[in-house]
Amino acid sequence: MLEKIVLAYSGGLDTSVAIKWLGERYNAEVITLTVDVGNEGDLSQVREKALRIGAIKALVVDAKKLFVDHLVFPALQANAIYQGQYSLATALSRPLMAKLLVDAALQENASAVAHGCTGKGNDQVRFEVSVAALAPQLKIMAPAREWGITREEALAYAQEHGIPVPVTVSSPYSIDENIWGRAIECGVLEDPWVEPPEDAFTLTRSPEETPDKPYYIEIGFEKGIPISIDSQKLDGVELIQRLNQIAGEHGVGRVDHIEDRLIGIKSREIYEAPAATVLLIAHQALESLALSKEQLRFGQRVSAEYAELIYNGLWFTPWRQDLAAYVQSSQRWVSGTVRLKLFKGSCCVVGRKSDYSLYQHELATYDKGDTFDQRDAPGFIRIWGLPIITQAQVQLPKSPEGLLGIATTPEDAST
Ligand code: ARG
Repeated sequence: MLEKIVLAYSGGLDTSVAIKWLGERYNAEVITLTVDVGNEGDLSQVREKALRIGAIKALVVDAKKLFVDHLVFPALQANAIYQGQYSLATALSRPLMAKLLVDAALQENASAVAHGCTGKGNDQVRFEVSVAALAPQLKIMAPAREWGITREEALAYAQEHGIPVPVTVSSPYSIDENIWGRAIECGVLEDPWVEPPEDAFTLTRSPEETPDKPYYIEIGFEKGIPISIDSQKLDGVELIQRLNQIAGEHGVGRVDHIEDRLIGIKSREIYEAPAATVLLIAHQALESLALSKEQLRFGQRVSAEYAELIYNGLWFTPWRQDLAAYVQSSQRWVSGTVRLKLFKGSCCVVGRKSDYSLYQHELATYDKGDTFDQRDAPGFIRIWGLPIITQAQVQLPKSPEGLLGIATTPEDAST
């Protein structure tokens, strides 16, 4: 019996070539799986194309809702941002694709899965670690990595084998896109000194071209999940799509990131993530109202760890589950509304409110109605300062450099 391989298929040049190549090289039957996580382009023709090239079956799964509910929103609740810049769109999509690939392989009695990643990126790691965690018995093939051909060679191979070449091949960039953002690399972008040309962007307008009037928008959250725009309830997928459109119109969400890849290479990556940018800003604004200082401080560490594990392909681990449990618990009171102003590429919080707000006007105010008793302050300061006074009295006279690194001399003391 012929071996069966399930290939993660985008419809692009590399994975199209892979259909033929895997079939020939391994004398195998190839089944393609195309996962729709809000990718660019029209997926309706992808099935046809896969079959035409020689796949024995072409599966297409609309996974937008799964993606948003199980990957994107948990990452948003955790404020997961890699190196302070990247909202992780590509990185989040890979574990879901791996899961669906494994499901399809088991369903179809395949012995292997395949992906189109090269040997230099993060995605090969994310795919393979995830597949191995879910179904260690499956073989994993990476034609782009094994075969190691250039773009020109892939084009020649396609021509030779009658594989239709997508128009997007004319693009000088390598792009990955889903509902949470778009990543753009290659071409002139590989020079970190060169400003990204306008043609690299499709989701966001250049700030020079955005409306001259600011746009105000209100995002409603329930337990850390965005549920409405301007009081209109929307399901997650719709809400993100709508926000991509609105914020993109105002040029919000462009990122130019010198990124540290998992495999040790620094790379220059351009991102467009209009909805992700707005939602991450809004979510943090609401947390600052509803969480205590300690929760916020610990939350920053959790965010950093969470971002790192997503980036590094460790989604299917107890580590992720444990962090997720903390995040879930921390979101109990993160409900309310955030008001933002979008203008010429910027996104600023201008208002926030919550039924669980810890901001108490009568405590904060300097006006009438103040309930804070200032007579409590001196006692507090005496106790707060006690260890400092103790240490200064004991050690300062014996430390020539002083506590500030400024020498304390008898003259100093007398002036
Ligand atoms: N550097 C990002 C990551 O590893 C995005 C990679 C997306 N791929 C692309 N061809 N632009 O998650």
